[in-house]
Amino acid sequence: MFINLISDGIYLPNMKHWKRYTITAALPYANGPKHIGHLAGAYLPADIYVRYLRLKKRDVLFVCGSDEHGTAITMQAMQENTTPQAIIDKYHVLVRDSFEKLGISFDIYHRTSSPLHHETAQEFFLDFYNKGLFKEITTDQYFDEEKKIFLADRYITGTCPNCGYERAYGDQCEHCGKSLSPSDLINPRSTLSGLAPVLRPTKHWYLPLNEYEPWLRTWLLRDHAKDWKTNVYGQCKSWIEGGLQPRAMTRDGEWGIKVPLPDAEGKVLYVWFDAPIGYISATKQWALDNNKLWELYWKDSDTRLVHFVGKDNIVFHCIIFPVMLHMHGDYIVPDNVPANEFLNLEGNKMSTSRKWSVEMHEYLEDFPDKVDELRYVLCSIAPETKDSEFTWKDYQTRVNSELVAILGNFVNRVMVLTEKYFEGKVPKAPENAELKVFVTGQRDKISESLENFKFREALTEMMNIARHGNKMLTEKEPWKTFKENPEATGAVLYDSLQIIASMAILCEPFLPFTSRKLFGMLNLDAKNFSWADAGRQELIPSGHMLGKAELLYQKIEDETIQKQVDKLHHGKTTDTLVIENKPAASLETPVQVSETEPEKPEITFDEFAKLDLRVGTILTAEKVQKADKLLKLTVDLGFEIRTVVSGIAEFFKPENIIGQQVSVVANLAPRKIRGIESKGMILLAEDEMGVLHFILPKELTKNGSIIR
Ligand code: 2FM
Ligand code: ZN
Repeated sequence: MFINLISDGIYLPNMKHWKRYTITAALPYANGPKHIGHLAGAYLPADIYVRYLRLKKRDVLFVCGSDEHGTAITMQAMQENTTPQAIIDKYHVLVRDSFEKLGISFDIYHRTSSPLHHETAQEFFLDFYNKGLFKEITTDQYFDEEKKIFLADRYITGTCPNCGYERAYGDQCEHCGKSLSPSDLINPRSTLSGLAPVLRPTKHWYLPLNEYEPWLRTWLLRDHAKDWKTNVYGQCKSWIEGGLQPRAMTRDGEWGIKVPLPDAEGKVLYVWFDAPIGYISATKQWALDNNKLWELYWKDSDTRLVHFVGKDNIVFHCIIFPVMLHMHGDYIVPDNVPANEFLNLEGNKMSTSRKWSVEMHEYLEDFPDKVDELRYVLCSIAPETKDSEFTWKDYQTRVNSELVAILGNFVNRVMVLTEKYFEGKVPKAPENAELKVFVTGQRDKISESLENFKFREALTEMMNIARHGNKMLTEKEPWKTFKENPEATGAVLYDSLQIIASMAILCEPFLPFTSRKLFGMLNLDAKNFSWADAGRQELIPSGHMLGKAELLYQKIEDETIQKQVDKLHHGKTTDTLVIENKPAASLETPVQVSETEPEKPEITFDEFAKLDLRVGTILTAEKVQKADKLLKLTVDLGFEIRTVVSGIAEFFKPENIIGQQVSVVANLAPRKIRGIESKGMILLAEDEMGVLHFILPKELTKNGSIIR
């Protein structure tokens, strides 16, 4: 715990005064376009944070680039009859350019196919190898004899040993949900050739993650219990408590970084071994280009390393990569990984392969001059603590009733009135001490929220300044006072212009294009201002000639929104069970299936009739100790009061569900759950966001009533 004075003059707890910052945003796979969910998940918050740090005149480096290896790219090339190189060359440029147009201000956008990266990753591998840290393990893996390739789990299908479904994947059966390994499948087949694969022994180098569990318990579970986001910390905790296993850091294949050992022909580094090292090689390249010392950004304990990623990348950035950095010995480890959850789109999971997405480059094609509008909306709804939802209607509402009606309107009124009454010159007026206190107070609130990675909160506080300005104009009506009391008009416009000048600074992290326009309209040079200047006295001096006024934002019409909604629905595939074409690496984290579950096998009426479904009422509810997901309920079933243990604690607070009517499977065989005998099951519907809802009769119904 550190207490430090930061440059605004405010004390923030838990903050070391870092000398410099290395900020990374997940390297996107260069195998397809990226959508606005990716933007909201990692790149936009990272950019906001970096822009804020730069305005605070901190030494900050922001790195990203293309992740260009991995089985998925090889497989995709085979399926599309092209080469991995052609795929990565195409998407590296598309994604890099989209980020640039969206104002994501990386200091470097590197590539993992670069020779410098290959060298850096191989150096890491050899460091571990020479220190004897790897475990060499030989296992049998499925091999496609026609395609001459070892198959990642997802590229093998067969019959599920659990339910008999014939198209189960090598890592999971989508029919019954059971986790599988390829050797569990009956009659396995390669998805590439359709042939039965053969088992072949193959040797790989494993990172003994289990040996670093004590270190992880101290560094992560103990030291970051308070400052990491709960969604991130919780996921790490369950990985660590679930027991860490050695993990292979090499793969069989040709596409990737060669394992730098003489007996490793046909082996490459695992993509999740090399990709995070990509942050380091990007730093090296940036240092070469800018005459800097890369090591300061990775090896000095006064450097704060922060990784911005989406939730499917948490384990790699919080466990595997930190272990690698720690094993190497000279490196700092991340001080925070403020990962976001997922952004859904119009009620469904966002997915490029299912054509249910808004791709960044498509948005830019349709709205080339509305980048800040998108940044604003995505920051307002960012999935910071749980999954959230983008809808076009909500986008329109937020743009029209917030950006246009609040910020745009305030600035426009002030510019027009200053032109009208003072020929575009900042009027003379006494300093307004109260206003200064308000604006500096807002500035510090925004700082605090940003330092804590609460970007939505920070944005609200920024907009509250414009709200305050509008209120001031409405209350003081400077257009009415001019004739009788021009000084009063001048004072209000002077104050308003000070507010706008502060906002030009404070909005920059969120709305960089707006900030640029504001500085232009105020005829000020942005380079002369820093974060600490916001709220300063006479930020824009009396007598200063303003620049040309322009509208900050345009209202978005219904037809524009309708067009986007139609486009989304026309592009949607009808296939209900399409799995994201995710690289094998990510598939080791929970698999995401589409929102529609496949039907279960048919049952007879007699089988259905065996179910005793009843209406009941929850009488008491309490948390089950040491089980985050469970609630112990007593339920009145009319004929008796039952104890039921239900996995709903993440969705309902015990005190909120007392008296709730529910539907119960009353004749389910009793089961002991955490030592409590549970008799029956509560029925729930899971919506597309994964949120649970009770199933209950429409009208209050007598307890014990039969559901048929
Ligand atoms: O999930 C992904 O898109 C990965 N390509 C992220 C890699 S982040 C880092 F390790 F480079
Ligand atoms: Zn199954």
